[in-house]
Amino acid sequence: MSEDIDQTRRKAMKVAAGAIGAGVMLSGSMNVFASQTDAKGNIQARGYAAFDTSGKLAPWKFERRPVGDNDILIDIKYASICHSDIHQEKGHWGAQQYPQVPGHEIVGIVAAVGKNVTKFKVGDRAGVGCMVGNHHHHHAEEEQYSPDTIFTYGYPDDRSPTGISQGGYSNNIVVEDHFAVHIPENVTFQEAVPLLCAGITTYSPLMRAHLKPGTKVGVAGIGGLGHMAVKIAVSKGAEVYAFTTSPSKVKDILSFGAKEVIVVDNLSKLNQYRGQMDYMISTIPYAFDVAAYASVVKPYGTFTQVGMPEKFEVTVNALNLAASRVNFNSSLIGGIKETQEMVDYCVDHKVLPKIEIIKAEQINEAWENVVNKKARYRYVIDSATI
Ligand SMILES: NC(=O)c1ccc[n+]([C@@H]2O[C@H](COP(=O)([O-])OP(=O)(O)OC[C@H]3O[C@@H](n4cnc5c(N)ncnc54)[C@H](OP(=O)(O)O)[C@@H]3O)[C@@H](O)[C@H]2O)c1
Ligand SMILES: [Zn+2]
Repeated sequence: MSEDIDQTRRKAMKVAAGAIGAGVMLSGSMNVFASQTDAKGNIQARGYAAFDTSGKLAPWKFERRPVGDNDILIDIKYASICHSDIHQEKGHWGAQQYPQVPGHEIVGIVAAVGKNVTKFKVGDRAGVGCMVGNHHHHHAEEEQYSPDTIFTYGYPDDRSPTGISQGGYSNNIVVEDHFAVHIPENVTFQEAVPLLCAGITTYSPLMRAHLKPGTKVGVAGIGGLGHMAVKIAVSKGAEVYAFTTSPSKVKDILSFGAKEVIVVDNLSKLNQYRGQMDYMISTIPYAFDVAAYASVVKPYGTFTQVGMPEKFEVTVNALNLAASRVNFNSSLIGGIKETQEMVDYCVDHKVLPKIEIIKAEQINEAWENVVNKKARYRYVIDSATI
C-alpha cells in the first residue's frame, strides 16, 4: 500500500473516530474489526511464525487478546528484520515455545483504542519496538530493566490466547498504549520502522558517551544496528571509525559519513588503531575476541557490547582488557521516553536507515542473507503481503 493511500485512509479514520468520540473503539457499522474478532473478543491475526529451531518461518493464523482498557490495536504496515529475531527463533538464547511470530520493529496505524487510552487515537501512526506491556501496568522510566516488562514476542503473557507474546511479522498487534511511540508525519513508515530497535539500541548508549564534535567513535559490525550507529554518531559530529569484516561495504559506510573504514580480515588490522577511540560500540552477533577490539579504545574509554551472541556469551580476556584499561559494558535497547526522543531526532535530522523492502514470502531468504552479511542494511517486510 502506498504512503498516499495510507494518508488518505488515516484521514478518513480520524474523521470516523472524531464522529464517535476519541478514546473508544470504532463500533457498529464503522467497526472495521468486527469481522476480525471471535465470540470472546479475541482478534484474528495472520503472521509468519517459527515452528522449530530451523530458522524457517511459515504462514500461521492465530488470535490476539481483545483490546483492553489500556491497549491499542495497530494495523501493521511494515515490520523489519532484526538479527535478534533469528537468534531467538533458532534457540540461540534458550528453548522457545512455538509457534512463535517474531518481529520487534513495527509500524502501523492505530485501529482501535481502549477506554483509558489518551496517548493515541484511531488513525494515528504508531511504532512498537521490543516491549509491549507490563504485568502490573507499572511504568518505570527505563522499562527494559523492569522485571515485569513483557517483551514483544516469545515472552510469557497470560493475556495472550497463545500464552506468549506474538510479534510483528503479522497484520496486527495489541499493545499497551504506553509502549507505543508516535511516528511523525514527515517520514515514511518504511524508513521509520528499523528505528524501533536498531535505532534505539545504538542511540541510547551513544548518548551516554556524551559525543561532541571530534569525539572518536569506533563501530564494529556494520549491519542493521551498526549502520545506524555510524549515522547517529556522525550526526552528532563524531569522527567515526567503522570496523567491518565485509570489504564490499566500504563504499556504503563512507557514504554514511564514516571518516575511515577498517576491513578487519585479520585481528592484526586493529593494532594500528590501538588506544585511539574515545568510545566504541560493537554489534557483532557471534563470538569474537572482545579484548582485541576493545584495545582500539584509549585507557579509561568505554566499549559497549550490544551484539548478543549465542547464550548471550562473549569471552573477554582479562589481561588483554587490563592492558588497555577500558571500561566494558553492555546495554539493552532503551526506554520508551528515549525511544520517542530518538525517533523525533532521527526524523528531524534525516538519520534514517538504508533499507530493502521485501514480501513476506521472502523472509526465509532474507534471514539467510542477514546471517551471511548480505543484508544492506535492514530488510523491511511489507505487511500487506502477509
Ligand atoms: N542489546 C540490545 O538491546 C540489542 C538490540 C537489538 C539487537 N541486538 C543484537 O545485536 C546484534 C546485531 O544485530 P543486527 O540486527 O544489527 O545484525 P546484523 O544486521 O546481522 O549486523 C551484524 C553485523 O555484524 C558483523 N558480523 C556478523 N557476523 C560476524 C562475525 N561472526 N564476526 C564478526 N562480525 C560479524 C557483520 O557486519 P560486517 O559485515 O560489517 O562485519 C554484520 O552485518 C545481534 O546479536 C542482535 O541480537 C541487541
Ligand atoms: Zn532488535
